[in-house]
Amino acid sequence: MVSVAISACTKQSSTAPTTAPKAGKSQNGFMEVGQVQDIEQNGRILQTLADDKKVLVVRDPNNTDTLHALNPICSHQGCPVDWKQDSQNIFCACHGSTYKTDGTVVKGPASTPLESYEIKVEGDAILVKTS
Ligand code: FES
Repeated sequence: MVSVAISACTKQSSTAPTTAPKAGKSQNGFMEVGQVQDIEQNGRILQTLADDKKVLVVRDPNNTDTLHALNPICSHQGCPVDWKQDSQNIFCACHGSTYKTDGTVVKGPASTPLESYEIKVEGDAILVKTS
């Protein structure tokens, strides 16, 4: 599990979808995927990196200072997963697997966690390293 603690947090109830354009600004393998305020406004960041890897960044509802960066591909059979603001977890619509924000499985059929990535915050920028 890889996560990062940040400061200046507030909860938002918005579930507006956001799929930002491909991320850029590589720094020592870290790619900027968005800004902290993107999480506040949209509940999560769903980003496609320059190498076409996708990244889902969510805030831990039990520790709001912590962000997690995950591969948003279900470990069951590869469907896309997404953040569900109302239930505060990550859900796969294909067969109903549910994950915590750290990627661990809450409910199957998936049996293995989502892949997690290194994440850090510099200023307001959220940076993720996928390899
Ligand atoms: S592919 Fe996600 S639950 Fe089956």
